[in-house]
Amino acid sequence: MSGLIPQHFIDDLIARADIVEVVGKRVQLKKAGREFKACCPFHDEKTPSFTVSPSKGFYHCFGCGAHGTALGFLMEFEHLNFVEAVESLAHSMGMEVPRDEGQRPARRYDELFELMGRLEHYYQAQLKASDPAVEYLKARGIDGATAKRFGIGYAPQGWDNVTRQFGTSREALERLLAVGQVIRKDSGSHYDRFRDRIMFPIRDARGRCIGFGGRIMGDEQPKYLNTSDTVLFHKRQELYGLYEARQALRDIEQLVVVEGYMDVVGLARHGVDFAVATLGTATTDEHLNRVFRLCDNVSFCFDGDRAGRAAAWKALQTALPHIREGRQVRFVFLPDGQDPDSYVQRHGAAAFVAALDGGTPLSDFLIDELASQVDLQSVDGRARLAELAKPLVSQLPAGVYRELLIERLATTVGLSSAKLEALLSRGAKPPRGTAQAPGKSRLAPRPPTAGRPSVVRRAITLLMHFPGAAANLDVDQLDGVNKPGVDLLRELIEMLKKEPTMTTAGLLERWRQREEGRHLGKLATVELPEGEGFDPGVELSDCLRRLALAGARERIEFLIEKQKLNQLTEAERAELRRLGRNSASNG
Ligand code: GTP
Ligand code: MN
Repeated sequence: MSGLIPQHFIDDLIARADIVEVVGKRVQLKKAGREFKACCPFHDEKTPSFTVSPSKGFYHCFGCGAHGTALGFLMEFEHLNFVEAVESLAHSMGMEVPRDEGQRPARRYDELFELMGRLEHYYQAQLKASDPAVEYLKARGIDGATAKRFGIGYAPQGWDNVTRQFGTSREALERLLAVGQVIRKDSGSHYDRFRDRIMFPIRDARGRCIGFGGRIMGDEQPKYLNTSDTVLFHKRQELYGLYEARQALRDIEQLVVVEGYMDVVGLARHGVDFAVATLGTATTDEHLNRVFRLCDNVSFCFDGDRAGRAAAWKALQTALPHIREGRQVRFVFLPDGQDPDSYVQRHGAAAFVAALDGGTPLSDFLIDELASQVDLQSVDGRARLAELAKPLVSQLPAGVYRELLIERLATTVGLSSAKLEALLSRGAKPPRGTAQAPGKSRLAPRPPTAGRPSVVRRAITLLMHFPGAAANLDVDQLDGVNKPGVDLLRELIEMLKKEPTMTTAGLLERWRQREEGRHLGKLATVELPEGEGFDPGVELSDCLRRLALAGARERIEFLIEKQKLNQLTEAERAELRRLGRNSASNG
C-alpha cells in the first residue's frame, strides 16, 4: 500500500457510513428512543450500557467508557489498524479508497516501526565506524555500556546516506517521509534530515523507536534537532528515557524530570536510572499522566537561572490538577550554570540524589514564589497574595492536600483558614471532585486542559454534541481571549462553519491524529441536558459572550497595571477608555 488516504475521503466515508449498521452487524442492537442500546462488546455486563447514536455517528459505553466512530469501532472490535478499518468500511459500502500519491506518505504502522528499527541499527553501526563521534561521546563521559543501553548512534555527514540506503523505491521514500527522516524539496527530490549528528533514539512504552533527537558535535545551530511530529511521534507527549528507566528498575520509586537528553544519559551513566526528559517543550499534562501512572514521587530538576525558574513555575501550574495525598512533587534548582549532567559528573550520584531529597516541595515553591511578588508586610500585599493564589488553589483537587495548602496560605496572609477559603471560593466554581456524585468521578471525562471545567470546555462540549449549532457563532469574539483551549475552540468553530454538515464522528476523525483528539472524544461522551428549552445555539453564543467579556476584563486589568506604572501609550489609553465603556455596558 502506498499513499495516505485523503481527508476528504474520510470525511465523506464517515458522513455516509451508518454506524448502526456497522455496529449492528456485529452486536445485537435494540432501539431505545433516538438511540440504540446493547450489552457492551468491550466489557462484561448484564444490563446494556452501550449506546449508539446514529445522528452523531458515535458510540459510547457508560459502563467502561469505550467510545468512538464507526472507524474506531471497527478498529477496536476487529483489531484493525486505521488504514485497514478505512478499507473495510469503504469496501462494505462499495467505495474505493483513493490514495494521495504525491501528497503524504504511507502509514502502515508495522512497516513504519520496522523502518525505525532498521534506521536505529544503521545509526548505531555508523557510530562504531566514526572515530570523531566515538571520541565526542567519550569526551562527554559516556561509556560504551551507557551508549548501548540508550541505543545511541551517529548520522554521518552527507545529504543522502539514509535516502540512498532506505529510500530505494518510491514507497520506501514515502515511508521515510512519514517517519520524518527525510525532507522533500519543492522540486520533489529528497534529503536526509539528520546529518553529522549524534543520534538519540526516542522509544515508546514498548521500547520501539518512534523518533530521534540529534545533537550536533560542534557549536553549530541548531544544537539539537528532533524528529518532526509524525504519526508515530508526538513531541509534546513523549519523555526521553522513560522506557530505559522502566527497563533498568524493577520498581520505580521516584522519577526526576530534567531538560535534556544528555542529562538523562549522563545521570544513567552514574547510576541515577530514573531520569526522564521532555523533548525541548514545557512539561505537559500528558507527561504528568505518564509519570504519575508509574510512581508518586516526582521531582523537576531545572537550572538555577531565571529560565529554569520560569520553566519550573510552568511545570508547577501544569502539575496542580495532578496533586493529591501521597503524591510528592518537588522542585530542585541546581547552582547557576550547572545542569544535571554536569552536576552528577562533578559531584556524583549520591550528591544528586541528596539534592533531589532536599528539593523544594511544591507547596513551598508556590507560596514562596507568590510571596516574592508582594509585600507581605502590608495589608494590601497580603490581600494581593490571596488573589494570586486563587486561580492556583482552584486547580487543586479537593482533599487533604488542598486543605493543608489553604491553611498555610492562611497563616502567611494572616487570616483564618475559613476566611481564606471563603475568599478563595468567591466567584470560583467548586474544584474538581467536590461537586461530583460519589462513584461517578471514575467515569467523568477529564477536561481538555488542566483545571476546573471552564467556559471553553463547555463550549467545546456543546460543539461536539451539536456541531450544527456553530453556524451562527461569531468567532471574532474570541480575538484577544487567552484562555487554555481557546485556539481549539476557534478552530472547531471555523471548521464547522466551512463544513456545516459535519457530525460528531466527522469531527473526531478530523482530529484522530492530533493530541486534542482524545479529549474531544471524551467531551463527546459527556451527558448534556437536552430538556425543554435547551438550545445549544443560545448556550454557545452565551459561552462566547462570556469569554469575550473575560478577555476584555483581563486586558483592562493589564492596561490598568501599566497605567499605574505610567507606561500607557496613547493608543492603549484610548483602548482602555473604550474597553471600560463596553465592559460596563455588558457586564
Ligand atoms: P548538551 O549541551 O549536549 O549538554 O545538551 P543539554 O541537554 O544540556 O542541552 P540544553 O540544556 O541546551 O537543552 C535542553 C534540551 O532542550 C535539549 O536536550 C533539547 O531537547 C532541547 N534543545 C536544546 N537546544 C535545542 C535546539 O537547538 N533545537 C531544539 N529543537 N531543541 C533544543
Ligand atoms: Mn548539558
